[in-house]
Amino acid sequence: MKYLVLTSIMLLCSCSKQNSETEHLQNQIDSLQANAYKPGFGDFMSSIQVHHNKLWFAGKNENWKLADFEITEIEENITDLKKFCKDRPETKSIGMIDVPLENLKTAIKKQSTKDFGDEYLILTNTCNSCHQKTKHEYNVITIPTAPPYSNQDFKPQNGK
Ligand code: HEC
Repeated sequence: MKYLVLTSIMLLCSCSKQNSETEHLQNQIDSLQANAYKPGFGDFMSSIQVHHNKLWFAGKNENWKLADFEITEIEENITDLKKFCKDRPETKSIGMIDVPLENLKTAIKKQSTKDFGDEYLILTNTCNSCHQKTKHEYNVITIPTAPPYSNQDFKPQNGK
């Protein structure tokens, strides 16, 4: 009997110790989540802007590998935007970019300079349609006239 009481007390003690440890860990997780850096809508858009620009010069140089890389970067940004910006009402409209991206991807796979030009224009118009729809019409996207940086060569390597 004496042992039983003692064991029960010990069990109770270890249990409540575990509880307070769990609570402590949960508090730490909550605080990490609250303070974790979350990229905003504008961060994704600024990144998309750079890839949209580079994509043009990749296509114009018939550097199809680079073009495929750049369009994939845009797609990845869209996927992350959907995940991280769920709470923004504008995110509901992001789907309008899916078909233009898909068609441009097909042009890149076909290695067709003509289709690339046509589909790139449609993509760019879609950027602006969404900006108009979400009352950000003052962000006007155009076909770029110069690459974003001077330290990148857009010509295909090894003549391919
Ligand atoms: C949801 C529809 C939507 C689509 C599609 C879209 N945008 Fe945006 N874009 C927005 C919204 C909303 C903002 C304002 C973001 C903010 O609040 O910071 C924005 C802002 C921007 C900005 C300004 C970013 C800054 O902080 O200076 C750029 C540049 C931009 N978009 C580029 C593009 C490009 C390029 C495309 C097409 C490849 C595109 N966007 C497609 C909704 C969209």
